[in-house]
Amino acid sequence: MKILVVGKGGREHAILTAISESPSPTDLYSFPGSDAIFELAKPLATPERPVESVESLVSAMQAEGIDLCVAGEESYLVREEGLANACREAGIPCWGPPKESAQLEASKEFAKEFLVRHGIPTGGYDPVTTIDEARAAIGGSYPTVLKFDGLAAGKGVAVCPDETSAEAFLNEVLVERKFGPGRLLVEEFLEGPEISIFASIVDRDYQILAPARDYKRIFDGDEGPNTGGMGAVSSLEMLDEDLRRTIEDRIVRPTVEGLIADGLPYRGFLYFGLMLTKDGPKVIEYNCRFGDPEAEAVLPMVRGDFATYLFEAAKGDLNPELISFSEGWSICLVSASAGYPASSRSGDPITGLDQVAGARVFHAGTRRNAVGQYETAGGRVLVVTASGATRDAAVAKVYAESDKIEFPGRQRRSDIGTRNF
Ligand code: AMP
Ligand code: GLY
Repeated sequence: MKILVVGKGGREHAILTAISESPSPTDLYSFPGSDAIFELAKPLATPERPVESVESLVSAMQAEGIDLCVAGEESYLVREEGLANACREAGIPCWGPPKESAQLEASKEFAKEFLVRHGIPTGGYDPVTTIDEARAAIGGSYPTVLKFDGLAAGKGVAVCPDETSAEAFLNEVLVERKFGPGRLLVEEFLEGPEISIFASIVDRDYQILAPARDYKRIFDGDEGPNTGGMGAVSSLEMLDEDLRRTIEDRIVRPTVEGLIADGLPYRGFLYFGLMLTKDGPKVIEYNCRFGDPEAEAVLPMVRGDFATYLFEAAKGDLNPELISFSEGWSICLVSASAGYPASSRSGDPITGLDQVAGARVFHAGTRRNAVGQYETAGGRVLVVTASGATRDAAVAKVYAESDKIEFPGRQRRSDIGTRNF
């Protein structure tokens, strides 16, 4: 079975690793990939066969006889050409939704309208286009949450404790147009612990996977600016039976029924970002893909035949019994480069990778230098994942293993797996 995974970060490295550990024989491909990913998977694009568009991506898949395309990141799904749409036309099973359905992630207003239309719990909101409308919608009530209505690499959201911070963000988005044209949502501030729920959705069927919690801020104690995520924790123990059932009954199933009612086809992972408020779980956002770094915590716990699971699911047949999740806790810890998240520094040599034992290392932003050594090449650089029977054991292990890896300017949180529990 020839499987292509689209993307180039730690999440895609984790997806490919999980597929490679399946008992079914697979031939793995990656686009655009990275040097570390190419240790597991062949590059789909070659100098003779460059890939510059969704169209050329699909042509390359056809030339190579790819049986299954797995979308790791959202960017190709939400484009005008839509990766899943193009795969469907070419007759290639795709794990990841068509662009119409991927609007659940690409447009925050689309997602809010969907949630409200289907009676799924979420915070109140007002879409606005001007600063005056925004100020009126905020109505002097803080904290308030401001969201640019489009893809902004995780940087289009501001939780504003006061007027000064709100005015600064409004100015960036509506005056300076930092993220380009687009509306802004003024959202009700929700309080409570957050949890990320992942489901595999195949038309009318769904399977809820192991939950996770990620750490978005750069510094310990959830301080500092938002990042793509500095670490994540996953365990089946994070949800008790009552809460699991509430999330399924009020959120997951109504979402699947809503997609059907709205004529939005869906085969792929759907990520529900939830706030566990005192009035019950509420949806903060949907993403039409696995989380990153949550994938690096969740997927190492998958047992069974993940390759066949994805292949059959992409063809319309969800077989929950093909996979299970191991007991215990899995924690992933991100090492980021100097300057992240405002910027990132590349070219710092990485040492100690070969010392890691009993933990996994996923590469988020590395490359091989002229002498074949890995060096930094991005904001989030490496993700180390370890498991343990208890959360404390997993924390101890992941820090011990991550300590073995070094590079100049490394940034790492010291409270991953302990804070928020
Ligand atoms: P989003 O990109 O919509 O997931 O927002 C990024 C982060 O901002 C979330 O993970 C939350 O930590 C925070 N956030 C977003 N919306 C709200 C909200 N309505 N209330 C409180 N915090 C929020
Ligand atoms: N970890 C957050 C995300 O993948 O969007």
